[in-house]
Amino acid sequence: MSKNTLTITDNRTGKTYEIPVEYDTIEAMQLRQIKVNDDDFGMMSYDPAFKNTASTKSKITFIDGDKGILRYRGYPIDQLAESSNYLEVAYLILFGELPTKEQYAQWEHDILHHTFVHESIKHLMHAFRYDAHPLGMFIATVAAMSTFYPEGRDIHNEDTRMKQIQRLIAKVPTVAAFSYRHSRGLPYVYPDNELSYTGNFLNMLDKMTEVRYEPNPILERALDVLFILHADHEQNCGTATMRVIGSSHTDPYTSMAGAAAALYGPLHGGANEAVLRMLIEIGDVKNVPEFMKGVKNRERLLMGFGHRVYKNYDPRAKIIKQVADDVFEVTGKNPLLDIALELERIALEDDFFVERNLYPNVDFYSGIIYQAMRFPISMFPVLFAIPRTVGWLAQWVEMLNDSEQKIARPRQIYLGEDERDFVPMDERN
Ligand code: CMC
Repeated sequence: MSKNTLTITDNRTGKTYEIPVEYDTIEAMQLRQIKVNDDDFGMMSYDPAFKNTASTKSKITFIDGDKGILRYRGYPIDQLAESSNYLEVAYLILFGELPTKEQYAQWEHDILHHTFVHESIKHLMHAFRYDAHPLGMFIATVAAMSTFYPEGRDIHNEDTRMKQIQRLIAKVPTVAAFSYRHSRGLPYVYPDNELSYTGNFLNMLDKMTEVRYEPNPILERALDVLFILHADHEQNCGTATMRVIGSSHTDPYTSMAGAAAALYGPLHGGANEAVLRMLIEIGDVKNVPEFMKGVKNRERLLMGFGHRVYKNYDPRAKIIKQVADDVFEVTGKNPLLDIALELERIALEDDFFVERNLYPNVDFYSGIIYQAMRFPISMFPVLFAIPRTVGWLAQWVEMLNDSEQKIARPRQIYLGEDERDFVPMDERN
């Protein structure tokens, strides 16, 4: 009869240990009983970059990277992208169930009526240089919001917590739009609470002298779908950062600024920006083979390809290709699309990429759509951070409610000098 245990024999001592297995996983702390002698600290596992370490149990997002499956709270991403909207998905991610009509109406009202920011936040944003990167502005402003809502530090009070969550989801588009207007030298546009979440965001980006801004419904919907696709992605670098910072009971604004900082890098949320810069550099379909040679010689990465978890087509990338068609109907085709398609075509047939299971990820096509919608390239990672806000916050709440969680504090294997005596400066050579 099979047993849900793992038997380990320590060949240093000949001792055998039986370790419980749950969810195909062993608890790393179980290894500590494996010792050579009583003074031994006990065995640890070594896993730089957490390639095979689960840091939490979670009920929010499911990914099967081999099959290319992504589900929020059990609902397949393609069904949500097809039939839902971002605010409804945000509710689902946060509360675990789809809202009833009444719950949705209340939720929508709560979010759309917290969109204004304190005037001092506006002044603060004014102080940035004219060419400040919008995500740099976003990170700093979200961190600064903790000083506007000091009650946010009361993280154990569920009502206070929910208030900060609503504030953050409601205000990030405003902060993002102000960062965009700032970089263009344009006056900031206040929110219009009669518009949808994404409609209002477009309003704050684009409104000029018109009395009432009318968002283009196709672009509004396209942005909504892109927001759904980016809402959560389990324990990625930014989310793990949110949980690590939050584990010391930091307020949600400061924790989220840290999560957004993790997102900034070109290997994570900054990849959409890096993809566009790469496509511009390639410049023409005829230059693709030469570029690919460089990738295969390991001179550079094919940005927007590969994923730690997906070893198959990223299901979000598939949906994004459909969104691109809708957007291009309105904006006209982005000429960089042909270069992207050629890169993908070659990569999907080439042994280098096939052997390593490298497929397009969410960022490969999103930038092409954002550029067609006339977003400046530096805004792309901000367009990732806005919808990811709900994922960060849902994961933060789950972490706070999880009695198995404690302050995050990895171990290390110390390989430095052994103890030695201090040498005064004039005796050093
Ligand atoms: N271009 C060329 N080679 C690649 C790429 C790429 N984009 N990605 C991975 N490889 C190679 C890598 O060199 C390695 O080869 P080998 O085993 O021969 O040394 C192999 O594929 C495995 O890659 P890895 O670096 O061990 O994989 P990882 O899980 O540590 O990294 C990744 C995942 C996403 C950081 C990486 O694939 C990458 O840098 N991609 C480009 C940046 C990108 O598009 N990031 C967005 C990720 S999706 C959205 C998000 O998370 O924010």
